[in-house]
Amino acid sequence: MKAPSFGIAVAAFALLGGFQAIAQDRPAPEAATGLGADVDAVSAQNFMVAAANPHATQAGYDVLAAGGTAIDAMVAVQMVLNLVEPQSSGIGGGAFLVYYDAATGEVTTLDGRETAPMAADGNLFMGPDGEPMGFWQAVVGGRSVGTPGTVMLMEVAHDRYGASSWADLFQPAIDLAENGFEVTPRLANMLNGDTATRLQTYEAARDYFFPNGTALAVGDVVQNQPFADTLRAIAANGSSAFYSGDLADAIVTAVQSTEENPGLLALDDLASYQVIERPPVCQAYRGYQVCGMGPPSSGALTVGQILGLLEHFDLPSMGPNSVDAWHLFAEAGKLAYADRGLYMADSDFVSVPVEGLLDPAYVSGRAQLISLDQAAEPPVAAGDPPWREGRLWAPDESAELPGTSHVSIIDADGNAVSLTTTIESAFGSQIMVDGFLLNNELTDFSFRPEVDGRLIANRVQPGKRPRSSMAPTIVLDENGEVVLVVGSPGGSRIIGYVAQTIIAVLDWDMDIQSAIEMGHINNRNGATDLEIETEMVALQPHLEARGHEVNVRALNSGSQGIHVTDDALLGGADPRREGVALGD
Ligand code: GLY
Repeated sequence: MKAPSFGIAVAAFALLGGFQAIAQDRPAPEAATGLGADVDAVSAQNFMVAAANPHATQAGYDVLAAGGTAIDAMVAVQMVLNLVEPQSSGIGGGAFLVYYDAATGEVTTLDGRETAPMAADGNLFMGPDGEPMGFWQAVVGGRSVGTPGTVMLMEVAHDRYGASSWADLFQPAIDLAENGFEVTPRLANMLNGDTATRLQTYEAARDYFFPNGTALAVGDVVQNQPFADTLRAIAANGSSAFYSGDLADAIVTAVQSTEENPGLLALDDLASYQVIERPPVCQAYRGYQVCGMGPPSSGALTVGQILGLLEHFDLPSMGPNSVDAWHLFAEAGKLAYADRGLYMADSDFVSVPVEGLLDPAYVSGRAQLISLDQAAEPPVAAGDPPWREGRLWAPDESAELPGTSHVSIIDADGNAVSLTTTIESAFGSQIMVDGFLLNNELTDFSFRPEVDGRLIANRVQPGKRPRSSMAPTIVLDENGEVVLVVGSPGGSRIIGYVAQTIIAVLDWDMDIQSAIEMGHINNRNGATDLEIETEMVALQPHLEARGHEVNVRALNSGSQGIHVTDDALLGGADPRREGVALGD
């Protein structure tokens, strides 16, 4: 059954009195988002694709309409996203794929995360004074560039689950690159201020984004012939055209030759890159299985902990108008992020107590720490899960900025793709090679290798993958069938965005568009953030009365989701960015 749209939901919400009789303080929902708020979820019967840009969604739609699989569509979408949303993701970065195979009912997770060069060590981001480098000082240049994983992830997934010709999947992006695409408001808005200053550090990006010294403007039509040529090479020769040969030479030369901040990436790092299949991490939640990407992502574990903690409270009957529900959501966030900071990193390098962190008895014990009346004083301490060796580690607060994108797809056979893909910060390392930007993913590592003699789990080590917060998610029902496909960009706040959408759909029967549009609340074991100019702001006095420190700020998610109901596939896209869902 289709749930009410956000506009209707908010009207009902106001009639009900909003957050305990304070509805009059709440602004209209249009103010919440600014980009076409108050739209209905898109309904379809056969297939659905939702991505962060209309051209990308259209490319995926065309592949699905021609009988391609969800994985085929994913390849086409990713290549177009690289072109039209270059600030967020692309072949110079990495990605995590959660895939549901309708024929077998299996969930598979593939890790295409970047790796640290073999020449890197724990001091990569430490300055000569023994202190960590400044964040942006570390980002701009070759030092922050990890071995990209996205091209190989696309190839491995396509080899296993694709049906269309590999080369054909590159044609939409090649055509757009050669014929030109229009600069969107979001891309144009990013070409000013400090971001613009950074992006003009190196010639290639400067010439592309600031032709004749002027920033690209909304509606400018841009061609990118070097990118079309790069895609033609990968289309013809597969990932070997990226990980060896001319492209690899160009990447390594660019990374090693940035004047002030040269990097360590070498040809051997590219030649030895591997996509890794990892066991999916699934958390039971009110009869559903919420499945996602395990370490090196903290996404599924932390979303799983938040949901596991909240299952001890009756959120379904509290509903979204309840201060209690949001207080509990913030408190669960504190506990889950505390464990994330201490225990979660690349499990090929450090022991991560994956099973223990979601152990029902452990989570139940942690839930007992939550008071309905009083906020815990942050930062709360991490717990002591079973199967842990993590007392070796010191807590870590690495940054993880929101230069990321999410794609949700279900094909006509019911196969599902949840792909979160990134070059880390906006425009990554700012280094552009052959028409695409290289990531700065290594700044997702802790800059410090240790604190007071205790090693940090997420420190830099050669060949290691930096901890991520990306949380591509697929939710299954009690029959093992897909109910929800969802994910978001947003740095370490991704986890809260995804958990909130899951609760809104599963516990409160909100339709997927309404769930995505709802104002955000987020707590990462510190202050409680409320999304500015949304209904959430009305929570501030109520949460403060329970002891929360509250910040009202932009919370810029970019969720794309598909909800499978008895009647239809419902697609939703986040109006905070430029996403679109399209189905048939
Ligand atoms: N770089 C964003 C993330 O991996 O969480």
